This record gives sequence, structure tokens and C-alpha cells, in this order.
Amino acid sequence: MSLRARVVDAFHRRYGSPPAFVVRAPGRVNLIGEHTDYNDGFVFPMAIDRAAWIALRPRDDGRVVATSLDFDETREFDLGRLGMKDTDGWIEYLKGTAWALLDAGHVLKGFEAVVAGDVPLGAGLSSSASIEMATARAFAAVSGLRWEPAPMALLGQKAENRWVGVNCGIMDQLISAAGVQDKALLIDCRSLETQAVPLPKGTVVVVLDTATRRGLVDSAYNERRAQCEAAAKLFGVKALRDVTSAELGARARELDPTTLKRARHVVTEDERTLLAAEAMKADDAPRLGTLMNESHESLRHDFEVTNDGLNTMVDEARKAPGCFGARMTGAGFGGCAVALVAADRSEAFVGQVEAGYRKATGLDPKVYVCRATNGAEVVASQERGNMPAAGLGRGETA
Ligand code: GLA
Repeated sequence: MSLRARVVDAFHRRYGSPPAFVVRAPGRVNLIGEHTDYNDGFVFPMAIDRAAWIALRPRDDGRVVATSLDFDETREFDLGRLGMKDTDGWIEYLKGTAWALLDAGHVLKGFEAVVAGDVPLGAGLSSSASIEMATARAFAAVSGLRWEPAPMALLGQKAENRWVGVNCGIMDQLISAAGVQDKALLIDCRSLETQAVPLPKGTVVVVLDTATRRGLVDSAYNERRAQCEAAAKLFGVKALRDVTSAELGARARELDPTTLKRARHVVTEDERTLLAAEAMKADDAPRLGTLMNESHESLRHDFEVTNDGLNTMVDEARKAPGCFGARMTGAGFGGCAVALVAADRSEAFVGQVEAGYRKATGLDPKVYVCRATNGAEVVASQERGNMPAAGLGRGETA
């Protein structure tokens, strides 16, 4: 059963009638432009066909009651008394999003809901952003708020930064809010302007989960951010976005070796990301693949956020049939890599990379082709008349 059918079915069984809305918001894979978002730079992600789904209907008492199918748990909270974050559980993503929307002055209605997702947790595919943006979409639907992707993404990011306590940039929430089917989105993380670009013809994007997860990602991430900010300060600019590689080269000797490496990654990654958009528009898969390869080397040697799993995975991918290029994706230190692959070789590619990685590491990877999907959306509603009349599973009665 699809996730959509599962949330509708579970809602119906719990509440005895169909939900008023079904919403979804996707995870993402970033094709290029890593650790550039918090430097006001450029990123180039796509929303993927893995998402958080919520089936819901409004309540009039200002409460949110939500059942997670993944955690087999029902939790609730009062919009008038959010208090503070009090657990590390899934409900905090809903509470945090409610807090950010309320704090921005939105008037919210409560709801009752069933929630489920298939973005793997902790894999670097933005499961947190998917639940935050699905929650924002749900509140917008029941409260009659206009859905504007960029302002909503900023509130999702605020929930993540200030409520959940992770100091991320804007990429994950913005692509989850604003993704476009069959396209990747070039995002200017300073202006928040987006440009949708189709993938090169005859190619697919493959996600390669290394099955490695590293703790302490947050502290390493914050350390990288601080190093980038220090470098920007040295140049007297707001963010590393404002430094060119020529300027960096000219003043390289004034920077300590670590700061220089971090800054070099960010400055060259911004340049690569803009070139990647050009390559994509020109339908030039080999060029795009080369830029992805260069991005990985920069993340490995200059930004130092890869691990053995990611490096091995990328090596295996590059050796496999039909591969134009491969790199780590997301924050790094574990999680997933991404490859651009010729569509007609993708089956052979997947088989060879899985076998090669397993042999090299003894770990069991997950490798899959993914499609680019829309960002957060209401997929069914009673108003629109496209809600299945009965969400009951086969052979069950109410
Ligand atoms: C994480 C963060 C993003 C971004 C990436 C690195 O996914 O949530 O904001 O900084 O790392 O590109």
C-alpha cells in the first residue's frame, strides 16, 4: 500500500471518516552546492519521491493530536500552551513548526492527523525538513494561510534552528517547499530566488546510501560554519559568497591553512554550482558529472566532511557502467552520495555499485534511482472532491 493510502486508511480507522486534507512534503538530494547555503551561496537540489505524508482534519479547540505510523505513537499539544521543547521525539518537529508560524503572527487552527514518512532518518536526505514542511502545509490548509514556499521555508528553518536546535541553512526546507517535478532547483540562498532546470536528457539521479551514520555531526557542522564566518570577516564581507577565487588566491597567505581550505571549498563550490546549472541547461551530462566529481574532491580534501563510506561509495560509483559523476550529498560525515547516471545503464549501475561497495566495506548499502517531485502540496482534499470516500483497507469495516 502506498504511504498516501496508509495515512488515509489509518485516519479513517481512527476517526471513522475520511480526512479533510492529505498533504505531503518531500526529502531532497542535493546535486551540487554543498555547505554553501549558510555562506549565502548557491545550491542545486531536487525534491525526491520520498516524503512525509499527513492526513488530517481541523479541530476547533486549538489542539493538535497526531498519530505517527512510523513510531506507533499518538501525541498531542495545545497551540495556546506550547511551552518549551521537552523531548527529542518526532512531535517536536510539529510543535517547532507551530511555534515558528505562531511567532510570525499566523493564526492557526488545530488539527487531528495521521503522519508517516519514507525519507530515511539520519541519511542526509532531509527527513526533518520534510516533516517540518508537511506540518507547515497542513497548518496552512486548515488555517486558510496562503502557501508561499520561500517564507514558509524560512519558518521551517527557524523551527529547526530555534526549536529543534540544529543550526542548518535554508536549502533543505526551501527545496522541500518549492521543488518542481522532473526538475532540479538552482537556489540563490541570499535572495531565495529559484530557477527550475530539467535534468539532462537520458540521465537519472541515483541515491547511494552508505549505511554509515556519524554522531557529532552537529558540532562538526557548527565548527565549519564558524570557520566560514571567520574567513568572511577577514575579507570584510558579509559572507563567503562575496569572495571570488581570484580574491582568495591573492590573499591566501593571510589565512591560516585550515581557514584557507574551508574558504577555498566554499568559493569554488559556488562557482561549480553556477557552472553546473549552465551544463544542465546545455544538456551536457558529462560536464555536469565532472563538476560533481570535483565537488566531492573539494569536500573531501578542503572541507573535510567525507568519511570512508562516502569515499568508497563514490569510487565504486565512478567505476560503474553509465556513471557521469558522483559525490557525497548533504552535510557529510556519513549518509548518502549521489550519482548522475545514463538512464539506460542504471540497472547495471545499481547492481555493480551495491556489489562493489558490499565487497569493499562489508556493509549493506541502499542504492536507488529517484525521481524529481514537486515540493510541499495538498494532494487531496474534500473541498476539491478528490478524497477517497473510504480509506479503509481491504476487508475491514469501520
Ligand atoms: C545540511 C543542512 C543544509 C546544508 C547542508 C550542506 O543538510 O541542513 O542547510 O548546509 O547540510 O550543504
